[in-house]
Amino acid sequence: MKSSFFIKDSEKFVGKEVIVKGWIYNKRSSGSIHFLQVRDGSGFIQATVVKSEVNPEVFAAADKVTLESSVEVIGLLREDKRAPDGYELTVKDLKIIQLADEFPIGKKEHGPDFLLSNRHLWLRSKRQWAILRIRNEMIRGINEFLQKNDFVRVDSPIITPSACEGTTTLFEIDYFGEKAYLSQSGQLYLEASIASVGRCYDFGPVLRAEKSKTRRHLTEFWMMDAEAAFVDFEGILKIEEDLIYYVIEHVLSTCEKELKIIERDASPLKSFKTPFPRMTYKEAVKLLNTLGSDIELGSDFGNDDETILMNHFKTPVFVTHYPADVKAFYVKRDSEDETYALSSDLLAPEGYGEVIGGGEREWDYNTLVSEIKKRKIDMKDYEWYLDLRKYGSVPHSGFGVGLERLVAWICKLPHVRETIPFPRMLERFSP
Ligand code: 4AD
Ligand code: MG
Repeated sequence: MKSSFFIKDSEKFVGKEVIVKGWIYNKRSSGSIHFLQVRDGSGFIQATVVKSEVNPEVFAAADKVTLESSVEVIGLLREDKRAPDGYELTVKDLKIIQLADEFPIGKKEHGPDFLLSNRHLWLRSKRQWAILRIRNEMIRGINEFLQKNDFVRVDSPIITPSACEGTTTLFEIDYFGEKAYLSQSGQLYLEASIASVGRCYDFGPVLRAEKSKTRRHLTEFWMMDAEAAFVDFEGILKIEEDLIYYVIEHVLSTCEKELKIIERDASPLKSFKTPFPRMTYKEAVKLLNTLGSDIELGSDFGNDDETILMNHFKTPVFVTHYPADVKAFYVKRDSEDETYALSSDLLAPEGYGEVIGGGEREWDYNTLVSEIKKRKIDMKDYEWYLDLRKYGSVPHSGFGVGLERLVAWICKLPHVRETIPFPRMLERFSP
């Protein structure tokens, strides 16, 4: 009886006959032997077809089978240290399910534009496979950490009447004749939900009409917003660093093989300790000036500033106390100097920059109203939000993790376009 089988479980099936259902991802032949590299989604294995050991039709099928054809292979599973993935299948039978046309993505180098246009096919490459799996484990790690720490998942809407992060990057939609926007972050809804469940989070796609063409910006990306009642600025930084530490440990313990495939040297990820170092925005500007940036006190960091600063560090760093004016209307100002906010960004090392934005929220009704007026924001869009400061308002804090930024750093990818299955960017929304 042939056992049902996934390649990842090869270890347990040595010496047994198995059926592999998958795709041909590579092929090499030497006249009387075909070496087929087969992948089934769970892993990769070499399937060897020896002319003298199989029926002529089976050998003919192996001869004919093209890259990315779907196949069903029956064979004897053997351990083989010389095989690329440690195991080998001695083929007895090979069925072609669909003989693939010539696959457009070959061995030669392709430019990013070509690959992105063929993203639906590019996803099958070993490297993209590994990134998808690491992304999956990161999602699992984030959920696990939050659930263990009493955060209740409360999902936020995508269609919203008002902006969370300023109006410059809002995507507007026509909602049956009314103006509506696509959510930039679920934060405001989580601030409502903490009064129900205390601590909560959401995890889903958010949208920003980012006109910047950088290696860090997508127009659709996944955000995990978390919010906690009765937690102050110090408290939220602690939760953020514990979360990041947890996720990295989780990836290191579950994705060793995948990290190797993408040639990510894991040693820099093994060297962090919590608490992560901190510096204030003012200290960061000073340091940036000595590192060659011409940033002036009062302005937000540009892309290059983040790169320069974080090429300087080998560990994630919190930058705290940004000028309140460069942050959103909801930030709580620092009582020691009201020009600055109790806000922080967590910046990732190796040049990556911001992966989390967060801080303490203004929870006093009058202060919030005067901030909204000062910024000339239309009060009526935020009436429901202001209600939260009228009915049992409490000190609270939260943060938002940009999943793709985190994946880019953990995988050390040159661009966020490889961190999400189907990237949306300034000049691309297909496939
Ligand atoms: O810093 P941001 O704008 O913060 C917020 O939206 C808060 N409301 C979150 C909160 O406190 N609940 O965005 C949070 C994170 C950033 O640190 C970054 O990692 C990521 O989202 N991010 C992007 N990722 C990819 N492409 C973009 N265009 C991004 N913009 C922000
Ligand atoms: Mg930010």
